[in-house]
Amino acid sequence: MHSTVALFNILKKDSTAPQSRPVPQHIAVIMDGNGRWAKKRALPRTAGHKVGAETFRTIATYCKDIGVKYFTVYAFSTENWKRPAEEVETLMNLFRRYLREAIETMAENNIAVRVLGDLTALPEDIRSLIDECEQTGKQLDNPAIASLCINYGGRDEIKNAMRALARQVQAGELQPDDITEEMISSQLYTADMPDPDLIIRPSGEIRTSNFLLWQSAYAEYYFTDVLWPDFKPEHMDQAIESFNGRQRRFGGV
Ligand code: IPE
Ligand code: IPE
Ligand code: MG
Repeated sequence: MHSTVALFNILKKDSTAPQSRPVPQHIAVIMDGNGRWAKKRALPRTAGHKVGAETFRTIATYCKDIGVKYFTVYAFSTENWKRPAEEVETLMNLFRRYLREAIETMAENNIAVRVLGDLTALPEDIRSLIDECEQTGKQLDNPAIASLCINYGGRDEIKNAMRALARQVQAGELQPDDITEEMISSQLYTADMPDPDLIIRPSGEIRTSNFLLWQSAYAEYYFTDVLWPDFKPEHMDQAIESFNGRQRRFGGV
């Protein structure tokens, strides 16, 4: 029985992931193109978000399976409130559904799901689901970390960090000249995470749209025309292959 299971796992691994290649420790994705995916099929934009949510499940699991420790996705920006109320509501419902599911399955998958962003603007029930997720995730032993950025804005995050440090200065606990880059990093939502190594943006847009502005200082970017609902593990492999072929210099020679 055991050997059959072991053989199955080996076969499974061979068929899903190229072996013996390094993988980035932290991959982040700007999940973009759901609306255009739906438009191409004459469907409502919300249909694109539903398929996009499935893609997130598949790719988060794939990343964990190939050994990526941190997988972070941009799911809803501080600017996305500008969208029609119905679209925002659909997205909130998808977050509700996913968070409930995550609470149920986190232990089995050994993936701790976290949410990064200004949570104060989110509906109360979503905030309690996020709390429950955090608590469940804390009980896992060395899990992979999947972070959903919801009501996340890079500038908003830096502004909040500045305010927190300014309050310490005001209280006389900190001198302005003693502020370090590490102190700023430790005030961000990503405080206990390494910076992203690879940031992927599908859908053909070539901009950051306010994602991980501070943390991306030395990230490698990968852009592809594939729309997020069409994004498959093979596209992740292509991004990782591109990443592995680059030389990161961090300002050195
Ligand atoms: C990304 O897809 C999802 C969110 C921003 C919430 P879009 O909804 O931005 O899709 P496009 O860019 O309109 O195709
Ligand atoms: C960025 O996508 C935000 C998310 C993917 C959540 P947008 O679709 O909002 O970005 P812009 O408006 O094209 O820059
Ligand atoms: Mg978009």
